[in-house]
Amino acid sequence: MAAAPQPEPEILAAFEAAKGFMPAGEGLALYAAATEAAALGLPLLEVGTYCGRSTILLADAAREAGVTAITVDHHRGSEEQQPGWEYHDPATVDPEVGLMDTLPAFRRTLHHAGLEEHVIAIVGRSPQVAKAWGGPLGLVFIDGGHTDEHATGDYEGWAPHIAEGGLLVIHDVFPDPADIMTGQAPYRVYLRALESGAFTEVSATDSLRVLRRTGAGI
Ligand SMILES: C[S@@+](CC[C@H](N)C(=O)[O-])C[C@H]1O[C@@H](n2cnc3c(N)ncnc32)[C@H](O)[C@@H]1O
Repeated sequence: MAAAPQPEPEILAAFEAAKGFMPAGEGLALYAAATEAAALGLPLLEVGTYCGRSTILLADAAREAGVTAITVDHHRGSEEQQPGWEYHDPATVDPEVGLMDTLPAFRRTLHHAGLEEHVIAIVGRSPQVAKAWGGPLGLVFIDGGHTDEHATGDYEGWAPHIAEGGLLVIHDVFPDPADIMTGQAPYRVYLRALESGAFTEVSATDSLRVLRRTGAGI
């Protein structure tokens, strides 16, 4: 079996230096999926930019294949990232507005990684952006809000755009509720994708699941 593609050391270093929530093992699995999907010649789309940690990997895979990574976020943070919650980082609050704004940190991350020109960043709510989106995608990576409303909205909005043979990647899939404080909505979306008959599982790495579109619908 061929070895999984790996990012260059400087890309891996930029990923590890970036603020965010993805461990290295899952990052490598995401990179391998992105590299495979990018060969379809279609854009790679991420829901949940935050400060750009995972975007670095999608952008580098996109760069290698001559396609574009698109990343969607309203940049106001998920529920569990708000003040008073476990995943809150006070440095992400815009003092003038008094709300989270992760866009400046994201831009710094991409600049330092030298990947700005390979990414289109869309600032907006995922279902609203998905409604306005018209084209096929090689990969959709769902790493946005963790409520059922948000995770389901991400799946229903973006999965229909995944081309035949393209990949659906879902983060924070935890079959055991004891393993996750932010809830099992991503796990339910993962089950729904499999039960639809439109997707087949390719790999599981910790909480990251990679599924391939092998049928129509969602
Ligand atoms: C877990 S973080 C993403 C982590 C990032 N992928 C990383 O590697 O560090 C989730 C992000 O999703 C965004 N988000 C949550 N719900 C959203 C929605 N409905 N539309 C757009 N962005 C959303 C939040 O603002 C937050 O930045």
